[in-house]
Amino acid sequence: MALQDEIEKRRTFGIISHPDAGKTTLTEKLLLYGGAIQTAGAVKSNKNAKAATSDFMEIERQRGISVATSVMGFNYRNVKINLLDTPGHQDFSEDTYRTLTAVDSVIMVIDCVKGVESQTEKLLEVCRMRNTPVIVFINKLDREGRDPFDLLDEIENKLKIKVCPLSWPISMGKTFKGVYSLYEKRLLLFQAGTKQLEREIIEINDINSKLIEENIGEKFALQLLEDIEVLEGVYPTFSRQDYREGKISPVFFGSAVNNFGVRELLDCFIDIAPFPLARNTEERSIAPIENKFTGFVFKIHANIDPKHRDRIAFLRVCSGKFMRNTNYFHTRLSKNLRFSNPTAFMAQEKTIVEEAYPGDIVGLYDTGNFKIGDTLTEGESLHFKGIPSFSPEIFRSVLNADPMKSKQLAKGLEQLTDEGVAQLFTKTLTGGKILGVVGALQFEVIQYRLKGEYGASCHFENIALHKACWISCKDKKKLQAFADDKYQHMATDKEGNFVFLAESQWALQMAQEKNPDIQFHFTSEY
Ligand code: G4P
Repeated sequence: MALQDEIEKRRTFGIISHPDAGKTTLTEKLLLYGGAIQTAGAVKSNKNAKAATSDFMEIERQRGISVATSVMGFNYRNVKINLLDTPGHQDFSEDTYRTLTAVDSVIMVIDCVKGVESQTEKLLEVCRMRNTPVIVFINKLDREGRDPFDLLDEIENKLKIKVCPLSWPISMGKTFKGVYSLYEKRLLLFQAGTKQLEREIIEINDINSKLIEENIGEKFALQLLEDIEVLEGVYPTFSRQDYREGKISPVFFGSAVNNFGVRELLDCFIDIAPFPLARNTEERSIAPIENKFTGFVFKIHANIDPKHRDRIAFLRVCSGKFMRNTNYFHTRLSKNLRFSNPTAFMAQEKTIVEEAYPGDIVGLYDTGNFKIGDTLTEGESLHFKGIPSFSPEIFRSVLNADPMKSKQLAKGLEQLTDEGVAQLFTKTLTGGKILGVVGALQFEVIQYRLKGEYGASCHFENIALHKACWISCKDKKKLQAFADDKYQHMATDKEGNFVFLAESQWALQMAQEKNPDIQFHFTSEY
């Protein structure tokens, strides 16, 4: 098949939600439609949230599950779908942010009872940064949820996106009748308790058709007509281009656990979601159709067996064709690497892959060559953009607890932070190491893994820091002068970039006001 056909066949996306909104359930139903699993219950929930934070076995178990479900590939209607899993627990959200750099679109699940929750807001912010197209799935319509118009208002206000409903619920909870698909002009009837894949569908060519009333009764039919009139007046008509540019978000309603509205979501997703498009590197834009292979690493997963230090680097193919046993150029290390056992993730199984196309994710066994953000090419020196580190929110300094093992500690910290478990900063004044994370659970993961995989022990000491932000200035002398002036509050990241450690919001604001020539950045990419 020609490269263009392979590209157009692919949809690479992620599902995001606040824990418990129904991401795992929806994932499972999508896999059922794709024939990737045969029975419900095959996808394990990766809810770290429910684990006690000190339960290390639980952390390990979750790591095991998340390797298995990191990428789920399946075919549906002759389309190759790559679904990238995102951790549900907010302490792992940095992992989620990075996974979002490897997708072309997302489906966001919202619980109709709870509405927009904190984690959803944060994740959507990352999508907005990159104009990632978003489809919204409002879930759990079998429960007494909030008024759908209120929900849409809340989504627009809190998430700062414009919505465009493509389906509409007819009542909710005990009296939930079904949804009317504005996209397909069909009525989909709900029967509680049925979990079959196929649903009773009534084709409606005209919204005034008597068929509606015959099926849902006069009261609900009237309400539906009224609602649709309002919808048409308030929301924009759907435009594929606006959706693909991240300007509007289509909204669907359903109930994942009852398998209701999921097929409609999937069918529409196949039709409208973007296939892999051009991506930016620092040097130039790369179109997927380019003959030469390029790709970048967005996630690194350590072997769960601590005796084997090898890891899996997850590479997203951006252009050309990736082939097994072929030399590729690692641009950061300036060296060629070849991969004899690259893996693909199909139907929840890992299999050796001979070739992969733009949009595909390949797992590369790695013994320490890769860091998140690394680029592979056929020789050209390129660096993909859009894989930033985010300014961490919780900081602790690292104290060696076993002086005999300081080398192991240094190596462990280096490698775990390469994996993106946390960010490592070195204080300019003392040379002391500071770890910055997005969620506190990461400290326990690090301590546990340092011991188990590197034989090193450390203590953490709390430090009062508000933010670590990267700084830049066109005038290098001014930048150095700022660093010299603030030497007590300066550090460097692993790449040697200047990082300003602000003790409080006030200190940050003062530094910004007094130094208008210095730019303060909250992601590592600036
Ligand atoms: P998550 O991955 O986003 O964290 O959510 P998950 O799919 O695990 O769903 C969270 C809970 O919500 C689960 O119940 C699940 O069964 C339920 N759920 C998902 N979709 C629907 C829906 O459409 N309607 C209703 N009423 N519930 C739904 P649980 O009790 O936590 O787990 P389980 O014992 O049911 O598996």
